[in-house]
Amino acid sequence: MQPELIAQISTGQLARNLREVRRVCGPELRICAALKANAYGHGVDLVAPVLLREGVEMAAVSTLSEAEELRDLGWPRPVLVLGQPFAVRSQAERDERLAAAVRLDLTPTLTSLEDARDLSGRAVAAGRVLDAHVNVDTGMGRMGLMPDEALRLCRAVARLRGLRLRGVYTHFGCAEEPDLVHTSDQLARFAGFLARVAEDAQIERPQCVHVANSSATLRGLGQAFDMVRVGLAVYGYHPSPQVPLPEEVRPILRLVSHLLLVKDLPAGHTVSYGATFVTRKPTRIGVVPIGYADGYLRSLSNRAVMTVNDHVVPVIGRVSMDLTVLDVTDVPDVKTGSLVIVLDHRADRPNSVESLAELMDTIPYELTCLLGDRIHRTPVDEFEGEPDRPIHLPRAEPTPQSLTI
Ligand SMILES: Cc1ncc(COP(=O)(O)O)c(C=O)c1O
Repeated sequence: MQPELIAQISTGQLARNLREVRRVCGPELRICAALKANAYGHGVDLVAPVLLREGVEMAAVSTLSEAEELRDLGWPRPVLVLGQPFAVRSQAERDERLAAAVRLDLTPTLTSLEDARDLSGRAVAAGRVLDAHVNVDTGMGRMGLMPDEALRLCRAVARLRGLRLRGVYTHFGCAEEPDLVHTSDQLARFAGFLARVAEDAQIERPQCVHVANSSATLRGLGQAFDMVRVGLAVYGYHPSPQVPLPEEVRPILRLVSHLLLVKDLPAGHTVSYGATFVTRKPTRIGVVPIGYADGYLRSLSNRAVMTVNDHVVPVIGRVSMDLTVLDVTDVPDVKTGSLVIVLDHRADRPNSVESLAELMDTIPYELTCLLGDRIHRTPVDEFEGEPDRPIHLPRAEPTPQSLTI
């Protein structure tokens, strides 16, 4: 069956983005790609195989179930768990999660001695050695341990069998801001922490030290370490206007649909809930099968645009749960079934992810993460339809069950 909403994911562009990030970092640096939240909404099953082929050394996820999904897909390389999956109320659940971390050979971010001891015990019992990282809070004020506590944990882990302190990291809170004062402070605190680790005879120097997200990486702040943790740039978006993307880094997603219905309304007719739009003249409308249930938020009502037959047309009236109405009066040959580009992959278009995120007063991260389950993600090598080639709606393809490389 032909799906009504199709997110085309360009595997060719994804590979180019990754190569560009690698070029910025230099060949020595390892890349950890943030694949959490279904690869920022793009479809982890489509993104992971490309990153694997392109030699990404590590994947970062937030939760254990995301890690498990990656393993189920066949991701063979380290999986860094950024969250704290063992902080659950039920002991049985905690035991299950500790066992899963060992079974799936995950790389947890340790946040307590208790977790470290329990993991160590399980790893030893299973005849395994698990890599672990420690996150140092240098000014993010979210996850991560304060430096003194982080140091104590590093020392403790060094004495445990079954666990290897492979990495230490910090996360920047303001690397996309115009000035880098906060980031420099964080870097200075992290350098102080690393100096204490280096002086400590009980702790072996962790082999994988990392600080940089996309913004910091693109601003050259991660290159002094061993690895970068990049998400947004891999998917092709600007973290902020202050962080220029290399020319070759471009969005990997285009969201296409078609008109469900085209009809003519007389002047003075109201459109959609709340009657927030009234036609001033006879108006031809087109109805698109997308709404806030799909992540096309109500705040886009009467503000956003889409493209129909290469014409930019306004959204009129309120976006509802499943439907959005367009004014297609000026579009030649418009009919039921006409192709609609909801999100354009060209960043400078008024219906690109970045343009709409600005309209919604949010960031590209939020917009792509909100894209819902009714949207069928499908891989394309390259985006067609540029500049003169026709766009073909692909038929739904089966979701790959495992990574093929
Ligand atoms: C700890 C951590 N590192 C790295 C990233 C990747 O950030 P970005 O997508 O800005 O590259 C994230 C994303 O939120 C994160 O939480």
